Amino acid sequence: MCGIVGYIGMRDAKEVLLEGLARLEYRGYDSAGVAFLDNENNLYVEKQVGKISVLRNAVFRRFHNKCFSLGIGHTRWATHGGVTQENAHPHVSASGRIALVHNGIIENYMALKQYLVKEGYHFVSETDTEVLVHLIEDFYKREGNRNLQSAVMEALKLVEGTYGIAVISVDEPYKIVAARNGSPLVIGIGEKEMFVASDVNALLAYTRHVIYLEDKELVVLKSERYKAYDLDYQRIDKEVVKVEWDINAIELGKHETYMEKEIFEQPEAIRNALRGRVVIEEGMVKFGGLNMTEEEIRRISRIVITACGTSWHAALIGKYLIERFGEIPVEVDYASEFRYRNPILKEGDLVIVISQSGETADTLEALREAKRKGVRVLGLTNVVGSTIARESDGGIYLHAGPEIGVASTKAFTNQVVSLILFAIYLGRLKNMSLYEGQRLLKELSLVPEKIQQILEQQDTIKKIAEKYHEAKNFLYLGRGVNYPVALEGALKLKEISYIHAEGYPAAEMKHGPIALIDEFMPVVFIAPRDALYEKVVSNIHEVKARHGKVIAILSDKDDHVLRYVDDALYIPQTMEEFSPLLTVVPLQMMAYHIARIKGLDVDKPRNLAKSVTVE
Ligand code: AGP
Repeated sequence: MCGIVGYIGMRDAKEVLLEGLARLEYRGYDSAGVAFLDNENNLYVEKQVGKISVLRNAVFRRFHNKCFSLGIGHTRWATHGGVTQENAHPHVSASGRIALVHNGIIENYMALKQYLVKEGYHFVSETDTEVLVHLIEDFYKREGNRNLQSAVMEALKLVEGTYGIAVISVDEPYKIVAARNGSPLVIGIGEKEMFVASDVNALLAYTRHVIYLEDKELVVLKSERYKAYDLDYQRIDKEVVKVEWDINAIELGKHETYMEKEIFEQPEAIRNALRGRVVIEEGMVKFGGLNMTEEEIRRISRIVITACGTSWHAALIGKYLIERFGEIPVEVDYASEFRYRNPILKEGDLVIVISQSGETADTLEALREAKRKGVRVLGLTNVVGSTIARESDGGIYLHAGPEIGVASTKAFTNQVVSLILFAIYLGRLKNMSLYEGQRLLKELSLVPEKIQQILEQQDTIKKIAEKYHEAKNFLYLGRGVNYPVALEGALKLKEISYIHAEGYPAAEMKHGPIALIDEFMPVVFIAPRDALYEKVVSNIHEVKARHGKVIAILSDKDDHVLRYVDDALYIPQTMEEFSPLLTVVPLQMMAYHIARIKGLDVDKPRNLAKSVTVE
C-alpha cells in the first residue's frame, strides 16, 4: 500500500531511489515520483503515471547530467483521488520549498483542508496527503523556515490517521525528516549515508543494519548520523538490528517472475521453517519465541485465529490441525470483521494472528483489539521486525524468506507448516504419544521432497492451463482440510488471471453452485485419497452428469476416477493432515500459467498491493 524511500549520502540519489522504488513496487504500482535537492538547493520533482520503469526513463532523460545526494521517492496505490500525475507523490508545498512522500491515510484531512484553505493554501491534488505538506509549511513559516523537525512534529500532532512520511526542504538541504504512525518505516544505516524506506527490501542492496521506527516516532537523518525522537521532542535510543535476508534473496535469479521463483522455493522454504524446531527423537517441536510456559500453554481452553486473504485460508487449515492434534477448540475470523463485532474473549483464550507481511492493517487492529481485551496474542509473521511481530506477545516466524510476488505462495505453505508444528506441539503437551509425535514429524520432513516432485510436473500443468485459459468461470471444490485449499486455489486464479473463480466445500455444491455447471464450467476437484475421498468422487460424478469439465488433483497412482475426469494432476501420497501442503502447489502453478498465457503481470496484478496497510 504505497512505498516510500529516501536517501542522503555520497551516492547518486537517482539510482538509489529508483532501485529502492523498484524493490517496493509490489506495494503499489499505479504511479510513482521522486524529489531531489541539488547542491544549489534547487528542488526537482518528477512524477509519472504507470510503473517504476516509466518514472526511471523520465528521470534519466531529464537528469542524465545531474547527480543528487539527497532525495525521496514514492510508489502509489491510490486511495484518495484517481491515478493522475497530480495525485502522485511527492507533494510539494505552496512555496515550492518542501516536498513530502506519504504512505497511509489522513483521516481528518477534510477538517485540516478547510483550515488550510481559509489560510489561503491552494490545493492541486485530490489526495489526503497534500494537507500534510501544507500543514508542515504552515508551521515551518512560523519558525522562519529554520526548523523542519519541529514543523513536522507540530503538524503531526494535529493529524489523525496513519502515516509513514519522509520530508525534505530546500532551506535545510542536508537532512530528511521521517516519521511513522501505523505505516511501517525502517531506517537503513550505512557508511556516511542513511536510508529510509517502507520496508527493508529497498535497502538491502546497500545495508543490512536497520532501525525500525515505532508509532509516533520521528527521525532526523543526516548523512553521518540519525537522531530519533517522540513527538514531544524527547530523544529515543533505538536498537540497530541486523537483517537476516541478503540481497540475493530478493533477486530473480534464473526465474522470469517472483511468483514463479517463490513457487519453486517452497521445498527450501519449508526446510527452513523446520530447521532447528523438529526434534524427532523426542517427537517434539521447539519454538524460540512463544513466550509462554508449558503450563500456560496447557491452560489454553480456546484459540481464535484471525487473518486476511490467503493467511485466512491458512487459518482455516490451522483450525482443522489444532482441533485434531492439539484437542483445543478453534474459531477462525476475518480480521476485518473481528474487531467490528464484540468478540467475546476470556481468560484461557489465545488469539493467533497470521500475516505474511506483518503489516496488514485489519490484522494489526484485530491484534490490538485482542490485547485491549487482555488476551495473549501469538503472531505468525514472515517479516522479522514487522509491526505485528513486534506487538504480539509471542510469535512464530515463518522463515519463508522475502515474498515479493503479490500473490502469496511460499508464505502460505510456511504458514501451514508453522500451524502443523504448533498443533503437534500442543498435542504433545497434552495426550499425543511419543510414537505419534515422531511419526508425524518424520512424515512432515518428507514434504519438501514431495513438493519437488509436483514442481517437476510443470509441463503437464502448462498444457492444462493452455486448455482452460479462456474459461470465464472456475469452480474449486474440496473437503475437510482441503476445503480451504479450494478457497486458496480460487483466490490465486482470481487475483492474477482475473478469471472469476469460487471455492466451495465439495458437498455444498448440491446446495446451489451445481446450477452453474454446464459444458463451459471447469471444476477443479481436490481429491487426494483421504477419509472423504469416496464422497468427493460422488461429487465428481454429479459434475460429469451435467457436462462440466473436471480437473482433478489426485493422489499418485489413483486411476480409479481417471475415466471420469477430463484432466488429472498427481500429488505424492502423504498424511491427510499434511495434504494441503501438496494439493495447493498444482493450483498455484495452474493459476500462474493461465495468467502468463493471458500475458498478465503475475507479480503485480491490477488493483492489488502486497501489504494492505489501510483498513
Ligand atoms: C494473497 O495472495 C493475497 N494477495 C492477499 O490475500 C494476502 O494474503 C492478504 O492481503 C493478507 O496479507 P498478509 O498475510 O501480509 O497479512
